[in-house]
Amino acid sequence: MAIPEEIINEIKYRNDIETVMAPYINLKRRGKNLVGLCPFHNEKTPSFTVYPENGSFYCFGCGVGGDVFSFVRQIENLDYIDAVKLLAERSGITLPQDGYDDSMQKLKNTIYEINRETARFYHSYLMSPEGKWALDYLTGRGLSISTIKHFGLGAAPDGWDNLIKHLKSLGYTIPDMIQANVVGKSQRGTYYDRFRKRVMFPIINIRGKIIGFSGRAMPGEDKMGGKYVNTSDTPVYKKSENLFGMNFAKNHCDERVILVEGNMDVISLHQAGFENAVAALGTSFTDEQAKLLSRYTKEIVLIMDSDVAGQKAARRAGEILGNTGIDVRVVLLPDGKDPDEYIKKNGAARFKALLEGAVSEIEYKLLTAVEGIDVSVDDGKLQYLAKAANIIAESNDVMTRDLYIGRLSEKYGVSRTALQDKVNELRRRNHKQREKREFDEIVRPKFDRADVNPEKRLYPAATAAEETVIAILWQHPDFYDTATERLLPENMITVVNRRIYKALCECISSGRNPDLSYFGEMLSSNEMGYLSALANSEKGDKNALIVLKDSIKVILDEGLKKKSGDTKNMSADEWAQNLQKIIESKQKGK
Ligand code: CTP
Ligand code: MN
Repeated sequence: MAIPEEIINEIKYRNDIETVMAPYINLKRRGKNLVGLCPFHNEKTPSFTVYPENGSFYCFGCGVGGDVFSFVRQIENLDYIDAVKLLAERSGITLPQDGYDDSMQKLKNTIYEINRETARFYHSYLMSPEGKWALDYLTGRGLSISTIKHFGLGAAPDGWDNLIKHLKSLGYTIPDMIQANVVGKSQRGTYYDRFRKRVMFPIINIRGKIIGFSGRAMPGEDKMGGKYVNTSDTPVYKKSENLFGMNFAKNHCDERVILVEGNMDVISLHQAGFENAVAALGTSFTDEQAKLLSRYTKEIVLIMDSDVAGQKAARRAGEILGNTGIDVRVVLLPDGKDPDEYIKKNGAARFKALLEGAVSEIEYKLLTAVEGIDVSVDDGKLQYLAKAANIIAESNDVMTRDLYIGRLSEKYGVSRTALQDKVNELRRRNHKQREKREFDEIVRPKFDRADVNPEKRLYPAATAAEETVIAILWQHPDFYDTATERLLPENMITVVNRRIYKALCECISSGRNPDLSYFGEMLSSNEMGYLSALANSEKGDKNALIVLKDSIKVILDEGLKKKSGDTKNMSADEWAQNLQKIIESKQKGK
């Protein structure tokens, strides 16, 4: 921890959590707390709870939680340090220039610098006489110089160490270049430029920082390394969480975003005036990418090849996006073209018309569901109608359902009421399942979820007791002596709670009142949610001292049980001692 505590407190004091949240969430008072629809997951009933009393929040639906720093960190997708900086700026506090960056933050900053210098290097090479081959290629594909500059495109020269030499001359070290993943290490132990003789696309995050690269081989030269070589995950880059073009698209996608497959498609579309285009970076579309988009837009238009792979990808993306509650429409491009080729051949106006005519997700599903079914025979018809009824039943809009029921009954010659009945029956069934799922999600708070504390599955009772101890000690720091006399941090069974309990004890023993901000740098966002839930739980409300003592006993007993599980490996002395401890603890318990 390196930002001085007084400064953290000052920033926190000047950034009231309600005010900071106001632009993102509509909060309503409920008792002494506030509730609203969670901005981190899609929900219809509010489970996002703010506790103004202690400046914390917790969502009972998805488990995010923490203090004002955690909130900014997650909603703006920032590091802890950057979140602190942002709130400091917002309230006119100047942070001391140096000495608060931890080593991870320093490494990240170095990687950002290396990436920036690398992009500059590639760009000036592209624009130099030596880079003519690459510039010819890009302009030959219809890109203008201003588009090339806008996207910061570049080219990696042929050869094994051009970039290494350049970065060395700027004072960067090989290990840092490797961390940035622009340099690799061979099995013989030599270092090499990862990108050679390729046109280079910098990947830029929503804050405008270069986080990685995608390099395309020249036509016919993609045998080594494949058509595209991409940055692997680094401390500043996670492929699954970013989208190519999002740094520009984020300012043009209030209404809709266009999701395409390739980087070249994004660039072509932007050049043609569709600045709301993004691409998943060579991955299949992920949940995290969907979440990112859902914060910026209302509607997503998926543009896919009409080939089988494209359709499969469209279906998957549609499923993921369906979970976020954004509207999804699908455009299938004719003749196996991608958007880049389509626009070049047919022009922007035709593409625009295609966009306007994008079919709804449901229409698209109905169209593709017919695949592999012979609807010219009765059996096939029935099979298709059963599938179609399922698709229609998914729609929550009565008009939409009515529309398609009408169309299908006409087209396949079945009565409207028969189809209607079928859909209604399916909806009743789905509704029950959905209710159960929603109930499970809301009633089971996140801190029951094993992903924050994976050991919970192994030691459910002990973990629950640990959580109780943390919650009670949090709310009653005056029980510190009682707790620590009996329970040392190393007695905690699960690793996560051991860490939290240890820090909590340190916090209290240094005379502070427990405060989430004390844990800001030490805990991951998930763990912060876990702790926020405990800090605000009602575990400490009644008979706290008794409950505390009982819970400690549960933990200690589990610890002994765990140990005696290892008796096979004990010496005779250890074994006798262990037995004695078990007897003593049993007697104490009476
Ligand atoms: N991709 C990749 N690795 C590959 C092939 C593809 O990462 N070996 C990713 C790239 O992000 C690429 C996208 O998948 O942009 C789509 O692939 P493809 O359609 O083959 O490339 P295009 O974008 O159409 O590239 P081009 O038009 O230059 O052929
Ligand atoms: Mn292409």
